[in-house]
Amino acid sequence: MSVTPYSAPTTAIIIVAAGSGTRLGAGVPKALVDIDGRTVLRHALEGVFAAQPMHVILVAPPGHEQAAADELEDLNSEHDWRATVVVGGETRQQSVTAGLAALGDGIEVVLVHDAARALTPSAQIDAVAAAVTADAGVIPALAVIDTLKRVEGDAVVEAVDRSVLAAAQTPQGFPRGPLEAAYARALETGEEHTDDAALFAAAGGAVRRIAGDERAFKITTPADLERARMLLHPAQPGFPLPQGPRIGVGTDVHAFGGEGNLWLAGLEWPDEQPLSGHSDGDAVAHAMVDALLGAAGLGDIGEHFGTAHPEYAGAHADVFLARTARMLEEAGFAIGNVSVQFQGNRPRFSARRAEAEAALSQALGGASVSVSATTTDGLGFPGRGEGISVTAVALVLPRGATG
Ligand code: CTP
Ligand code: MG
Repeated sequence: MSVTPYSAPTTAIIIVAAGSGTRLGAGVPKALVDIDGRTVLRHALEGVFAAQPMHVILVAPPGHEQAAADELEDLNSEHDWRATVVVGGETRQQSVTAGLAALGDGIEVVLVHDAARALTPSAQIDAVAAAVTADAGVIPALAVIDTLKRVEGDAVVEAVDRSVLAAAQTPQGFPRGPLEAAYARALETGEEHTDDAALFAAAGGAVRRIAGDERAFKITTPADLERARMLLHPAQPGFPLPQGPRIGVGTDVHAFGGEGNLWLAGLEWPDEQPLSGHSDGDAVAHAMVDALLGAAGLGDIGEHFGTAHPEYAGAHADVFLARTARMLEEAGFAIGNVSVQFQGNRPRFSARRAEAEAALSQALGGASVSVSATTTDGLGFPGRGEGISVTAVALVLPRGATG
């Protein structure tokens, strides 16, 4: 028998966060996707750390172990729980297997939790842990609300009795020994199951259910991400988010100064004086980013690309705009068009207008961009040749409204 300190928790939670998030399509693993300035993983961990103390085993996306460990460490600094990071595998089942290998002595109950269920209330985690017995597993599940049909192709074959069905969530909790035995068996047979309860049941284990919670939904698609954002920051009463098109405005000013060539409107301008600023000083691109973020209600350029993000120092318009387009897509918006105008004596723009519009449009994934330039009749700082002033207006549409 192993001896553990009297205060050591006997429950462990394996948080699987190693998936790539193909259906979300954010270009980074789903766990690292930003919901509201905090990632999916951060929210999942906050739910866990609000529950009773447990050994936390975080299964990280391959190549992103450090980012996952930093997030865990940051939260755990206030708790000082036992915490371990392991690297995930190609399938969810392999990721859970990796987590199981990190279980220490004294653990009797194991919870397995999807990081993708980022807003799971801590009460659900505690309820599952408390309901596990020495011989039965427990899952949280919700009644099925939709009327269900059995179909073959486009033919509706029959109605399915939904009263005998339930939608499974996580965390799913199990007695440790039987869960390890069930995973060892699955490894031998090569069976792949979509959740731990199915794998446990296939090995002959009993599983019971307790009530789930709507907030424990799994973030799978961009619409789910938007649902999470709305739950975290509901629109003010009386100011519901419009369902139709939304516009945004952005402005930017940069002074001429510094070394090298000018970068403006996504193009390099040889032998023109550059604009100074964090990144390349491309005020046209920066005003566009603000207009797009503003239209989608996603904050502003300083928040997402400012000096706190050194990875964007020296970046050009294509990087800013592509990232912005992806953020809008994740939030459920398509870009209608962006119109931008700069005031300045230089560069002489008209000869390269089409080239600039094509470059900016391409960076936004093909959205329509129009750019114009004007002088100010010698008035103000643009007229004195001190810098450039830009105004951009963007139109965005809820995705689905674009046909
Ligand atoms: N998961 C994992 N390792 C994998 C696959 C999935 O740890 N190889 C985790 C995910 O990180 C997620 C949970 O299992 O927390 C549920 O998986 P799912 O929602 O399908 O996430 P992804 O596989 O990342 O998404 P997709 O299927 O769209 O690629
Ligand atoms: Mg998956």
